[in-house]
Amino acid sequence: MTDQKVAIVTGGARGIGAAITTGLARSGVHVAAGYSSNSRAAEELAGKLSAEGCSVSVHQGNVGVPEDCQRVVEEVLADRGRVDHLVNNAGVTVDKTMRKMTVDDWHAVLRINLSGAFYMSKAVLEHMLERGSGRIVNISSVIGQTGNVGQVNYAASKSGLFGMSQSLAREVARKGITVNCVAPGYVETEMVAAVPENVLEKIIAGIPVGRLGQAHEIARAVQFLVDDEAGYITGSVVSVNGGMDM
Ligand code: CAA
Repeated sequence: MTDQKVAIVTGGARGIGAAITTGLARSGVHVAAGYSSNSRAAEELAGKLSAEGCSVSVHQGNVGVPEDCQRVVEEVLADRGRVDHLVNNAGVTVDKTMRKMTVDDWHAVLRINLSGAFYMSKAVLEHMLERGSGRIVNISSVIGQTGNVGQVNYAASKSGLFGMSQSLAREVARKGITVNCVAPGYVETEMVAAVPENVLEKIIAGIPVGRLGQAHEIARAVQFLVDDEAGYITGSVVSVNGGMDM
């Protein structure tokens, strides 16, 4: 087993996930970055970070498929012998008002955003329990705290992460494992760029800090929560949203 700490970051090649991968890798952690289909983005990020001297591997898998989650964790354990941190970041939107949202739209978002975090956490849990240490960080959203027009599926998935995290945090609190959420606001990523321009203008006008967040600002909160010194923080939500939930 290597001395170097190992983090799995799902959806770790793009958007907020890429910033989390970058932040953790630059702090000296080996990052196993998961991706579902965009292998080019994953290889490019891994190549860039490796050229800086960071240690990064990429792993294809769909977090909505429990067998993929199990396989990815097994790959990482076979390669590195340990998983110290799990960051459940992979997430999707299918924004439609309730009247237009289909049952498939509902399940597509819940499967990735909520069930995916369950499958991945379950896949690493026995290993973390055996070692008596671990950090699980679930990337939720301000939308899980406030709701949003056009996002009943996404808001339900992100609220669900709060309850799931607190329940698991209680189960493992005495076993050296912490489970927390980071709840970003609107961050400058492809996901937010897909919001209609007129809607986005109104959203930005309502953010107290007056701008979109940057992905590295979310990554910083994740780094804080996975630190050895953060062992007394569990079942918490760290909001990084420019003041949106005040
Ligand atoms: N408040 C109240 N009602 C609203 C509304 C609002 N802000 N926006 C739309 N509606 C109502 C309309 O009045 C309309 O009602 P009627 O039919 O009774 O008139 C109904 O909703 C449908 O309106 P549209 O025809 O304009 O709706 P649409 O189906 O074309 O699009 C939408 C609606 C899907 C919500 C679209 O406006 C949209 O994509 N909005 C952005 C949603 C958003 O913020 N997504 C965040 C993505 S980023 C992310 O998720 C990351 C994160 O964690 C923050």
